[in-house]
This record gives sequence, C-alpha cells and structure tokens, in this order.
Amino acid sequence: MSRQIWHHKDLVDIESLSREELETLFAQAEVFKASFGTRRKFDTLKNHTVGTFFFEPSTRTRSAFEVAARNLSADLLTLNESTSSRTKGETLRDTAMNIRAMGVDMVIMRHSAAGAASYLAKVLDIPVINAGDGAHAHPTQALLDSFTLREHFGRDLRGKKVTILGDILLSRVARSNIYCLTKQGVEVTLAGPTTLVPREFGNIPGVRVLYDLKAALADADAVMLLRIQHERQTTTHFPSLNEYTSLFGINEERAALMKPEAIIMHPGPINRGVELESEIADGPRSVILKQVTNGVAVRMAGMHLCTLFREGQL
Ligand code: CP
Repeated sequence: MSRQIWHHKDLVDIESLSREELETLFAQAEVFKASFGTRRKFDTLKNHTVGTFFFEPSTRTRSAFEVAARNLSADLLTLNESTSSRTKGETLRDTAMNIRAMGVDMVIMRHSAAGAASYLAKVLDIPVINAGDGAHAHPTQALLDSFTLREHFGRDLRGKKVTILGDILLSRVARSNIYCLTKQGVEVTLAGPTTLVPREFGNIPGVRVLYDLKAALADADAVMLLRIQHERQTTTHFPSLNEYTSLFGINEERAALMKPEAIIMHPGPINRGVELESEIADGPRSVILKQVTNGVAVRMAGMHLCTLFREGQL
C-alpha cells in the first residue's frame, strides 16, 4: 500500500476529508475486505473498548460497526437510549464524559441532531465516528457507496454518472454522497419531485438537478435510490406514497430505461413497493447486499485510521 495520508482523530463528515485521505481509506478498506472469509482478525483495537451510542434506530450501520470493531479485536460497550439515564434528562456531554471515564477508547454515534457528532468530537479526546446525524451527514454510508462503485467500475470514477433519486431534501446519505462522489470526479444527478430536490443543489460544481425521471435514468452508470423518510417529514412533500411510486418508483419498466450495464444501489432500509420494486431490488442490476458487506470493510478502515492518528502512528 502507498503512503497513508490521514489527519483526523474523528470521522464526522466527508467535507473535511481530502482526496488523498479518501484514497488512503479506500486502500485500507481493500486490505480489510481481502481478509473476509479467512476469519482473520486485526490488532488495531486490541485492548480497546468501542462504545456504540445509537440514539436512532439502525440495523445495517450499527451491526456493521459492531462486526468491524470485533474484526479489529475491540471490546464493545453498547448504550441503549431507552434504558440509559438519557431518559432522565442527562446531557449528551455528561453521558459521553461518564463513558469516557470508564475507559472507552472510541465512540460510534447516531443522533437525530445535525452536528451532534462534531460536538462530541470536540468534547472527547478519543475518536468519534458519525453513524448519521439528523439530515446532515452519514459519512460511512457514502464511503461504502463509493467503495462499491470502485469495485464495480474500477478505482478511477472520473466521468462516471451517478443519479441519486428520491428524498434528497431530508437525506444525510445524499449530502455525504454529493461530497464523496464529486471529490472523485463523478458527475452527480439529483432527481425526484420538486418538493424533495432543492433546485439550489444544482449550483454545486459537478451536480445537476433533474425533475424528469426518464432523463435522470438514461445516462446513469449507477442509480442510487433513497428511502422515502416518513419519520423526518414535517410537512407534506407529495400527496401520498402511491403518488410517489407512480411517478418515481423504480420497477421493471423504468429500469428498462437505464443503460443495460447500469447498477442499482440503495442504502437501506428499502421501502419495497414504494421507491423500489422487489424484482429490481433482488435482480441482477442490484448491488445492495454488496454495499452492506463493503460497509464492514469501510468502517474497519475508518476506525483503524482514526485510531492510528490519535495514537500518533500516522
Ligand atoms: N443505511 C443505513 O444507515 O441503514 P440503517 O439505518 O439500518 O443503519
């Protein structure tokens, strides 16, 4: 592996990562992925305890971080919101400082408030990894998405076209992907209903906004579908789920508008029958479960690099 460039104790967003740091992380993730199936463990987090604070539900991210931590030989401490003293009004800072006082060496956090991970990263002297903060950022999701694209299309993604379709307005996945993809020279199209795709996003270099589904699908190398997030919608952005599905849901007929070799991605959880029909989610174009596997490798890489930096080894 070429020289590793990484300057962060924490992984809280994509914006603050340089192009070289992205390459370092992907190269490290490739090394870790090559070990899958061999039962090999790495020592990065031996004698370290990783605390997982998930203050919002999660299946993929939480599980992938736990598997990744174990693969790096960590011990795990799991904090559950509903059974913690957070229910008695304890602040996030106090919770984190108490856990730190017990000797925890890294915190993985999902929180409903945008900026919560950055805040904690300033408060704590140990690595903090953002597992999703409100509608702001989901950096490891974007990293695993890019890792999957690189596996499929090759490491140089310049000139590739990725369409992100759906609930862009409320999506931390879309925000992190916009930064991650454009940093690698990918041409990004944001598509969906006008109410869910702010026109101003088209002012970001490398990004265009389209409200015509046919045009958004036609030249894409990959179509990344986003879940319609009922839980974050404070106002009605479209009349009904049926309406969304009839205009933007991806079924066989619409998938046929894509290039034959184009792939389908989804961060999960899928609303089957809403943004994506099962025959496409489970069909030959889908790389959705590869994304999940790659989530373990990428998270191992993030935890590994942040730990080495914090301990002065990078
Ligand atoms: N993609 C993703 O963040 O899934 P979870 O909410 O299940 O973690």
